[in-house]
Order: sequence, then structure tokens, then C-alpha cells
Amino acid sequence: MPTIKTLLAHATKTLFSHSDSPLLDAEVLLGFVLGKPRTYLRAWCDNTLTDQQLSTFETLIKQRQKGTPIAYLTGTREFWSRDFTVTPDVLIPRPDTELLIELSLDLIPKDKAVNLIDLGTGSGIIAVTLAAERPNALVTAVDASLAALEIAQHNTRRHQLTNVEFYQSDWFTNVPKSLFDLVISNPPYIDSDDEHLQQGDVRFEPKTALIAKDQGLSDIQIIADKARNYLNPAGHLLIEHGYNQAPQVQAIFNALAYDKVQSYQDLSGQPRVTYGRKP
Ligand SMILES: C[S@@+](CC[C@H](N)C(=O)[O-])C[C@H]1O[C@@H](n2cnc3c(N)ncnc32)[C@H](O)[C@@H]1O
Repeated sequence: MPTIKTLLAHATKTLFSHSDSPLLDAEVLLGFVLGKPRTYLRAWCDNTLTDQQLSTFETLIKQRQKGTPIAYLTGTREFWSRDFTVTPDVLIPRPDTELLIELSLDLIPKDKAVNLIDLGTGSGIIAVTLAAERPNALVTAVDASLAALEIAQHNTRRHQLTNVEFYQSDWFTNVPKSLFDLVISNPPYIDSDDEHLQQGDVRFEPKTALIAKDQGLSDIQIIADKARNYLNPAGHLLIEHGYNQAPQVQAIFNALAYDKVQSYQDLSGQPRVTYGRKP
């Protein structure tokens, strides 16, 4: 029976031309199969696996070789220091989206009972994180996909939150009429011809979570337009977008007469989120 060390060396070689991080992928998948952290693999590198564990690991490595994202293989991804369940029905949480959280938290006083809405909640990372970080907030989470909403609800239970409400809706269409202090969205914003759709993890993610018409701007346009009817006076709108879309998104916000329109940079220095305040 091969040892952990031998298995990792072999799997790393197998994944070499299929992944940018073959050793890390092999370690994450083996840790997942064993239910152990990666440090265990180093400490117990001469241990062997059961037949069942070996067979599961080999299946996962084959799926990874075909490109299946690690997050879909392990069913989990960390975001803002919490673990979230993910399936192929939802977008895989991105570190870029932590900028939306940072900006939102700056806008929400800790002790105030604010009303906020996350449009296109997917796995629920934004709604759940804000509901957990701001327990006095009432969070509305919306998605057009029922399968995504089920994952978001599961993640809300997983983190034992009771301040999130869910609606299956085409943006605001089925949301009961009310006024929000903050409208947040990471909507689909990729053009259908974008070459990134043929690369890496993105190939396996739901197209409905990624693609929007009009060079990727159609959903941003709809959300920014409709949000004006759902925002309190001086309410805040924050939308994540592509690294090269800030000028167009600012133009959309300005044409709709939002105040204080400004874009913010993500960790890699790209303008990633645009802000506007309802006059
Ligand atoms: C880019 S994903 C964002 C998921 C999650 N908020 C995140 O940041 O990881 C966009 C989400 O918008 C949802 N969506 C797409 N079109 C929609 C629509 N017309 N109305 C509501 N949700 C929509 C998709 O199902 C998907 O879950």
C-alpha cells in the first residue's frame, strides 16, 4: 500500500499539466479524503490509506485532471474566515468579493438595525457574512436560481443565523416593497464572448451566474436603475464588476443621478466595486 508521501508525489505529477498548483491540489484533496488538515499529511507522511480512502482519492484526482474545481470536489470554500458549502449550482466564492464586505461594513453601524439586500446571493457569502458581522441588520437575499437559494439557506443554517430572508426573484421583481439602507450585488458581468469563460474553474460554473448582455453590463444597469425605488434617501448602492468596467459602471450610476459615485480597488489594485448614494 503506498504511503501519503508516495501518493502525493504521484498525484502532483498527474496534475502537473492540468493545474497551476498541483501539490496544493493533491494535498487539499488528500486532506479532504482523510478528514485531516494539510499539516497532518506532512507529520504522518509514512501512513497508508484504507482501500476505500485510496479509491476515493484516485477518483478525485481524475476529476481534478479533467478540470473540476477543487471547491466543487470538496464542496466547500472559505470566505471572510467562514466555511461555505458550494456546489456546481453556485459561483465559487472569490477573494475579490471581500472588498464588497469591507465597504459594506464601513457603511453599517454595528448597533443600528439596518435593512439591506444582497441581489444574486448565490452561495449566500455576502448575505451570511453581513448578517453574522452585523447581527442587528435584517438581510434580504435574492436569487433567480432556486438551487442557489437552497445552498444559501443551508449556509445560513450552518452559521446559525436568523436575520436573513430569502426570495426567488428576477432582481427586485418578487421582493416585497420596502426601503433598504444598502443594496449590494455581485451580479453576472462577463460578456458571452469573453475568453475567460473558456479557462480554469470558470468553465464549470453556472453560466447564469457569470454572463450578462451588453458587454456584461445589462444586469448592472437593471439593478442600478431599479435600486433607486428601493433605497432610502441617502441609501447606499455597491456593485461588484469586472476589472475593466469601472468607467462604464460609473457612467451608468451618474446617468441615474446617484451621488458620490466612486470605484474602489481590490487587493490586486483593480477597480472592482462601484459605489453610489441615492440623492
Ligand atoms: C456572480 S454570481 C454571485 C454569487 C455570490 N453573491 C457571490 O458573490 O459569490 C451572480 C448570482 O446572480 C444570480 N442571478 C443571475 N441573474 C439573476 C436575476 N435576473 N435575478 C436574480 N439573481 C440573478 C445568479 O444565479 C448568481 O447566483
